[in-house]
Amino acid sequence: MRKVTLFILLCCIQLVAAEKKSPHGAKLKVDCAVCHVTENWNNIKKNGFDHRKTSFPLTGQHKNVDCRKCHVSLDFKNVKTKCNECHIDVHQGTTGNDCERCHTTNSWLISNVKSLHQQAGFPLRGAHATADCNRCHTSASALRFDNLRTDCFACHKDKYYATAGKPYDHRALGFDTDCAHCHSMAGMDWNKIGKGFDHSFFPLTGGHNISCNDCHKGGDYRKKLSTDCTTCHGGKKAQATASSPAHSTVFARYSCGECHTTQTWNTVKMKQHDAFFGIYSGKHRNVWTKCTDCHVNDARYDAANTCGRCHDDIQHL
Ligand code: HEC
Ligand code: HEC
Ligand code: HEC
Ligand code: HEC
Ligand code: HEC
Ligand code: HEC
Ligand code: HEC
Ligand code: HEC
Ligand code: HEC
Ligand code: HEC
Ligand code: HEC
Ligand code: HEC
Repeated sequence: MRKVTLFILLCCIQLVAAEKKSPHGAKLKVDCAVCHVTENWNNIKKNGFDHRKTSFPLTGQHKNVDCRKCHVSLDFKNVKTKCNECHIDVHQGTTGNDCERCHTTNSWLISNVKSLHQQAGFPLRGAHATADCNRCHTSASALRFDNLRTDCFACHKDKYYATAGKPYDHRALGFDTDCAHCHSMAGMDWNKIGKGFDHSFFPLTGGHNISCNDCHKGGDYRKKLSTDCTTCHGGKKAQATASSPAHSTVFARYSCGECHTTQTWNTVKMKQHDAFFGIYSGKHRNVWTKCTDCHVNDARYDAANTCGRCHDDIQHL
């Protein structure tokens, strides 16, 4: 009996003493029992304290980290909060202090390589997407991502000069050093086979999907070509003028490209028509098949008296 009393007494003394030496600072308002068990001060209850109540919820791999690894000082308020205050910047300042731009607490592996390059104004497409990181980031194996230049010439100077002696000797022809003017970043090579040549400044679609030499006679790229349809299609102009609809009257106000595409001369699309009378939008969208549904196919190309073909009572409309 005496032994038991003594034991209880000792326990009480111990608790009181311990309470006095809380290592957590005076400001901690949480009850000891939320985190502690009675056996030992160093055994912390799993899921005892709800860390989501703090401004720093434990996510990803932080969930399994020992409290003391972060709370080196057991005064819980006295703790770093930024990633780079607890983790060494392995990139040696080359990517800035905002680690969260690329990393999460789940892993140091990054999954947004694509969007990172997009944001940096250098989307990785074509041959760039398959190239090893080290080919461009020469210190990537040391985890350094020093700033790179994004202009093509910075990395492809040699290839530009290597065209010497070819029919398309770039330097001799005075070609722009902004390769993207004629070459595509989405390509796998520099020629049209792997889509590395890009003629989109004058799209080679429809009837223009032909040999380079059909337009650049003799493979001469030095001679500047005009994009005006009539320079190459003078004969077509004469043909059109002689036929109906009469191209020399109402149509003459517009350039050929405003009505014709490169598909065939009989595919006509006049986008600007909607500016004065909607035929691709509004009530008349998809209700006609030929321009001559509304127009009289004569020199005036009139539309004023043809409405009645579809409308019984045009006055009423
Ligand atoms: C939010 C949770 C939490 C609360 C509340 C809490 N503690 Fe702790 N306490 C800890 C953690 C975590 C440790 C470190 C455990 C370890 O060693 O890993 C610790 C350690 C201790 C230690 C041992 C210190 C050492 O150096 O090993 C004592 C003593 C202690 N706490 C007393 C208290 C007392 C007294 C209270 C109530 C006033 C209290 N604690 C409230 C989490 C808490
Ligand atoms: C990955 C690091 C990390 C781990 C692991 C961690 N904490 Fe924290 N803890 C923090 C940070 C950062 C804060 C936010 C401090 C702030 O808001 O100023 C914090 C805040 C707290 C606070 C609130 C302090 C206050 O009064 O505002 C308590 C209590 C706390 N932690 C207890 C714990 C306990 C108990 C554990 C283990 C179960 C633990 N922490 C594990 C980083 C951590
Ligand atoms: C208060 C200090 C602290 C802060 C702030 C902190 N961490 Fe941690 N983190 C740790 C500790 C401690 C570990 C456990 C691993 C260790 O001992 O280094 C860890 C582990 C990790 C891990 C697991 C991989 C590894 O290194 O073991 C990742 C990933 C991680 N942290 C990412 C982050 C990110 C991202 C941030 C910013 C949002 C961040 N951490 C903020 C302390 C912190
Ligand atoms: C612009 C993006 C970016 C930023 C910002 C960034 N990192 Fe990284 N980090 C990377 C890339 C890329 C890797 C290589 C891993 C990969 O390819 O998935 C990496 C890898 C790491 C690794 C793993 C290293 C290894 O040995 O595998 C750690 C640790 C790391 N980063 C810490 C940080 C810290 C700390 C910060 C903030 C100071 C930070 N990073 C900021 C992109 C970034
Ligand atoms: C064809 C060249 C090329 C390849 C291949 C390449 N990058 Fe980049 N990377 C760039 C350029 C150019 C930039 C943008 C300029 C800059 O920020 O330095 C950039 C930017 C970055 C940045 C910094 C982004 C920032 O916002 O700070 C990281 C990190 C990066 N690349 C990682 C990688 C990783 C990882 C790989 C491999 C999976 C890779 N890159 C492959 C050219 C490349
Ligand atoms: C930071 C360096 C860098 C920049 C900037 C860059 N490239 Fe590249 N490019 C590469 C690398 C590396 C390859 C992979 C092929 C290799 O190993 O040479 C490549 C491949 C290519 C290829 C495939 C043909 C080949 O040589 O393998 C084309 C086409 C290409 N780049 C076009 C461009 C264009 C257009 C630009 C400008 C908008 C550009 N590149 C900017 C580094 C760069
Ligand atoms: C004014 C347009 C133009 C510009 C700008 C231009 N190129 Fe070219 N490039 C061409 C033409 C045309 C060819 C021949 C393509 C073909 O025959 O399919 C060519 C071919 C090439 C070839 C050879 C392709 C092969 O398979 O033999 C390389 C390499 C090349 N260019 C690199 C560059 C580089 C690097 C730049 C920028 C520094 C550049 N070019 C800028 C028009 C241009
Ligand atoms: C249907 C006619 C046509 C075909 C086919 C054609 N081109 Fe062109 N090309 C043009 C016209 C028109 C221009 C002038 C574009 C401009 O100034 O905007 C031009 C311009 C160029 C230029 C000079 C760009 C500059 O800004 O200096 C190059 C180089 C070129 N073409 C290469 C080629 C190659 C290589 C092919 C074959 C893959 C080809 N072209 C096929 C009509 C054509
Ligand atoms: C640099 C010269 C050049 C220019 C500029 C040019 N073309 Fe062509 N186009 C050709 C060549 C060459 C052909 C091949 C067939 C031919 O000789 O008629 C062709 C074919 C066509 C065809 C197919 C012919 C058919 O009978 O089916 C159409 C349609 C066409 N061009 C429309 C246009 C239009 C519209 C424009 C103005 C936007 C234009 N072209 C500008 C050179 C050119
Ligand atoms: C306002 C629109 C418009 C403009 C501008 C225009 N056309 Fe047409 N073109 C048409 C229409 C409509 C047709 C008849 C299509 C049909 O019914 O098949 C046509 C037919 C043609 C035909 C085929 C004639 C036939 O006999 O089949 C040629 C060739 C032609 N146009 C060339 C040109 C040329 C060259 C120019 C520029 C000088 C030009 N067009 C400007 C609307 C236009
Ligand atoms: C649903 C009826 C309708 C159809 C279909 C239609 N038009 Fe018209 N178009 C009109 C009307 C109405 C006007 C007169 C607008 C005005 O008086 O300002 C007009 C005016 C025009 C003009 C004269 C513009 C000017 O500058 O005065 C041209 C050219 C023309 N259309 C061409 C075409 C061509 C080419 C097509 C076929 C692609 C076409 N239209 C199809 C109703 C139509
Ligand atoms: C090829 C047949 C056709 C021709 C030609 C035509 N329309 Fe229409 N129009 C329609 C159709 C179909 C509708 C849609 C009726 C509906 O939605 O109830 C319509 C609707 C309209 C409407 C709107 C009526 C409403 O209820 O909102 C007006 C206004 C109109 N047309 C005026 C004209 C005029 C003016 C002309 C002559 C320049 C003309 N249309 C020539 C077929 C035609």
